[in-house]
Amino acid sequence: MSATETFKDYLARRAAEVNQWLDRLVPSETTPPEQLHRAMRYSLLAGGKRLRPSLTLAAGEAVGADTDDLMPAACAIEMIHTYSLIHDDLPAMDNDDLRRGRPTCHKAFGEAVAILAGDALLTQAFRVLSADAPHRDAERQVQVIREIATAAGTVDALIGGQIADIESEGKNVDASTLEYIHRSKTGAMITAPVVVGGIIAGASEEQIDKLRGYGQRIGLAFQIADDILDVTSTSEQLGKTPGKDQAANKATYPAIHGIATSQARARQLVEEAVEIVSGLHLKTHMLEEIARFIIARSS
Ligand code: IPE
Ligand code: IPE
Ligand code: MG
Ligand code: MG
Ligand code: MG
Repeated sequence: MSATETFKDYLARRAAEVNQWLDRLVPSETTPPEQLHRAMRYSLLAGGKRLRPSLTLAAGEAVGADTDDLMPAACAIEMIHTYSLIHDDLPAMDNDDLRRGRPTCHKAFGEAVAILAGDALLTQAFRVLSADAPHRDAERQVQVIREIATAAGTVDALIGGQIADIESEGKNVDASTLEYIHRSKTGAMITAPVVVGGIIAGASEEQIDKLRGYGQRIGLAFQIADDILDVTSTSEQLGKTPGKDQAANKATYPAIHGIATSQARARQLVEEAVEIVSGLHLKTHMLEEIARFIIARSS
C-alpha cells in the first residue's frame, strides 16, 4: 500500500469518528421541523473529506489534548463548513447542482429550505461550541468561539472572501486580490481548525503562532488545489461539477497564473507549512501528512 493510501485509511477512520459525533450533535430527522432537519443532515452527513475536523484532532492531539475534548469544536467547524457549501451552491451564488456526490441541498429541498438549513447549521455550531461541559476551561472555550466566529466572519474571513469572489466574477483580478479571496473564503476556515486544536490542548502562544503559520499556508494551498481540480478532474472524482470556474469567469489560480505555476506555488506553501510545524518538535506527523495530502488529493 502506498503512503497516500495508508494516510487515506487514517483520514477515513477519523471521518467515521467525526460522523458519529455529528450524527449526535444535530437533531434527528423525526424532530420537528422534520423537513429542515432532513435537509441539514442530508448535506452534513453526505460524505465529505472531513479535512477541517481532522485538522483540529491532529493539531490538538499533537499538543496533548484528548480526542473527546476536541470533537465538539471539530464538529462545529464541519457544520459551519457545510453551511458555507450549501449557500455557495445556491443559484444566487455558484449555482451548482452536485455536491458531495449528490444533488445540492437546494436541488433536493428547494431554495428556502436550503437557505434555512445553512443558517441552522451555522447556529447549531455555536450552540455546540458554547454547550456546558464541566471539565472545559471557560476561558479557552471563549477563545475557541472567538477564533471560529472570526474565521467565519467578514474581515479576511469566509464571508468576506465569498463576497469578493462573487464581485470578482468576469473581472480582471490582480494576483494580490486573488490571494486575498483565497485566504479569506477558504484559508481562514482551514487555519481556525488548526489553531482551535491548539487552544483546546492548552498550547503556548509560540505554539499557536506556529500552528497558525502552518494553517495559513495549507489553507491557501487547499484553495489553489481546488481551483486546479476544477480544471483537471471529473465529477465522478470530485462529487461536484468541474469546469464551473471558467464558465463563471471566476478569479482562480489557473486562470491568472496557469496550472504549472499554480501547482508550484501550492507545493511551496505545503513545504513551508511542513517546515513550520515540524519546528514544534511534537508528534506532528499527521499534520505533515495532511499538508501533503492537500495537494496530492484527487477529490
Ligand atoms: C470545498 O471544500 C470547498 C472549498 C473550500 C474549496 P472541501 O473540498 O473540503 O469539501 P468536502 O468537505 O470534502 O465536501
Ligand atoms: C468555496 O469555494 C469556498 C467556500 C467558502 C464554500 P468554491 O466555490 O471554489 O468551492 P467549490 O468548488 O464550490 O467546492
Ligand atoms: Mg464559490
Ligand atoms: Mg462553489
Ligand atoms: Mg472550487
